[in-house]
Amino acid sequence: MNHSLPLHLLLLYSLLFTISSASIPSVSQEIEAPLSSSNENLFPIRREVYGDGRIFDITHRYSPETPCWDFQENGLGQFVWLTRTMKNGSEANFSQVKLPNHAGTHVDAPGHMFDHYFDAGFDVDTLDLGVLNGPALLVDVPRDANITAEVMKSLNIPKGIIRVLFRTLNTDRKLMYKKKYDTSYTGFMKDGAKWLVENTDIKLVGLDYLSVAADDDLIPAHLELLESREIILVEGLKLDDVETGLYTVHCLPLRLLGAEGSPIRCILIK
Ligand SMILES: *[C@@H]1O[C@H](CO)[C@@H](O)[C@H](O)[C@H]1NC(C)=O
Ligand SMILES: *[C@@H]1O[C@H](CO)[C@@H](O)[C@H](O)[C@H]1NC(C)=O
Ligand SMILES: *[C@@H]1O[C@H](CO)[C@@H](O)[C@H](O)[C@H]1NC(C)=O
Repeated sequence: MNHSLPLHLLLLYSLLFTISSASIPSVSQEIEAPLSSSNENLFPIRREVYGDGRIFDITHRYSPETPCWDFQENGLGQFVWLTRTMKNGSEANFSQVKLPNHAGTHVDAPGHMFDHYFDAGFDVDTLDLGVLNGPALLVDVPRDANITAEVMKSLNIPKGIIRVLFRTLNTDRKLMYKKKYDTSYTGFMKDGAKWLVENTDIKLVGLDYLSVAADDDLIPAHLELLESREIILVEGLKLDDVETGLYTVHCLPLRLLGAEGSPIRCILIK
């Protein structure tokens, strides 16, 4: 495929911000990595489900292996750096994070694909938390096609449903767990996106790979969905091991002024 995206996308992909590293024991792939080698019983617990099976974390954990459109072959790579360490005599460990805003589980703002929206300031800070939080339907999409108008029609999503998470073949193929960016993922075709806009009340579109739009219709399908500035796209969701049905979704992007995308934490509550 041809990745001739506008330059602003490339320029704005990366955003640097600093966070305290108190909760980041390491960036290693080891899930059960000990916090300290001097205390064998000190193991952090990492969970996918909380609250007695009621709360599902549908966010992918960032790791150096996280796939990224920007780094097609090798994934995200190192994204946390300790800039001060207690081992070096600092009072605290202190790290910096550098993340492309469209890696892992993330949200797209209208400025992602419309330059005049970008210039007008439609960044992630302007996204409606009322849309990003509320009742949501998790549906399974047929595995033998991309999301066309015909597929959308066949899903029979009732009017009044505002938030839909589409689980596709991407989840079965575990694409988000493979560091190589895979352009054969399932996503919306232009006509599927147009059908959604014209025939449903959906304002939050969630999908289980890095783009809601299939690679063949990457730009046109995004344009259909983002043009009204009413629809929010949440990409790279982790929808494994969750049953289809109605939940409450909570998605919170970072308030990154000027950014056309952001890492986002999403949970489903039964
Ligand atoms: C710790 O100190 C060593 C020696 O001065 C230096 O090489 C290293 O870069 C420091 N590491 C950090 C994370 O500050
Ligand atoms: C960070 O601080 C902890 C103590 O809270 C210490 O055990 C650990 O070695 C420090 N990490 C680094 C990389 O210096
Ligand atoms: C969806 O489209 C991609 C190209 O964008 C293609 O590689 C893939 O095979 C299609 N998926 C299905 C299930 O037809």
